[in-house]
Amino acid sequence: MISVKGLSKTFHTLSGPVHALKNVTFSVKAGEVLGIYGPSGAGKTTLLRCLALLESPDSGEIRLDGKNVLSVSGEQLRQVRMKIGVVFQGYNLLFSRNALGNVMLPLEIQGFDKHKARNRASTALDMVGLSHRKDFMPSLLSGGEKQRVAIARALVTQPEVLILDEPTSALDKRTAESILELVQGLNRSTGITVLVVTHQTDLVGAICSRHISINHGALAAPGCNDVYQGTFHEQALPAAPIWERQ
Ligand SMILES: Nc1ncnc2c1ncn2[C@@H]1O[C@H](COP(=O)(O)OP(=O)(O)O)[C@@H](O)[C@H]1O
Ligand SMILES: [Mg+2]
Repeated sequence: MISVKGLSKTFHTLSGPVHALKNVTFSVKAGEVLGIYGPSGAGKTTLLRCLALLESPDSGEIRLDGKNVLSVSGEQLRQVRMKIGVVFQGYNLLFSRNALGNVMLPLEIQGFDKHKARNRASTALDMVGLSHRKDFMPSLLSGGEKQRVAIARALVTQPEVLILDEPTSALDKRTAESILELVQGLNRSTGITVLVVTHQTDLVGAICSRHISINHGALAAPGCNDVYQGTFHEQALPAAPIWERQ
């Protein structure tokens, strides 16, 4: 479903070039939960930002459903962006909007009318178990609840892929596990493809059907992404349709 080939990205800084991604090649199957492991500074967030089309790589190719997404623009780019939901590290919620308002935002940006945006946002908050917190401002939410709002906001465009950057790093173990359980439940019930970036491999590994490892901008070992691990690898991938579209 996603195919990444020869992806490279160098940042030019005052202290010299930083090779954040070096010739990264891997693919992701529809419906799987792929872990992207690596220590701090490995290039994980840069990879995620490239996949989410928020950063342009210097070279390489990213294909989504066979289409080279790095060459699209305009309306096509808008369509591709809708297919990818991102949960950023640190939630990135707007503190001036309540939970519902935060979740509505991507749809407002896409030009949806308010009524439809509100209904969809409300459904997304139900999906993450936060229907009782719709009117709450972020400052009144716990860390786990903020993470759920961020996940709902990523889901509101009904994406095919959900990408999460270090979703558990700011949470205590029990809350982290409940977030991972939620992500796994969403994967199983909707068939959404999940990419989860983490350095907490023990914790997050429990929901990954497969992983790749990245260090110093490069995949750690050729073939490492063929190694299946975790406890759920024998389960059949959920069947299409990916979403019950409204
Ligand atoms: N915008 C940027 N400008 C300069 N250097 C950057 C930028 N973003 C990331 N880097 C550098 O690229 C490398 C990889 O960073 P990152 O992708 O954030 O790693 P990770 O998410 O695995 O911790 C690091 O050395 C980081 O300092
Ligand atoms: Mg990072």
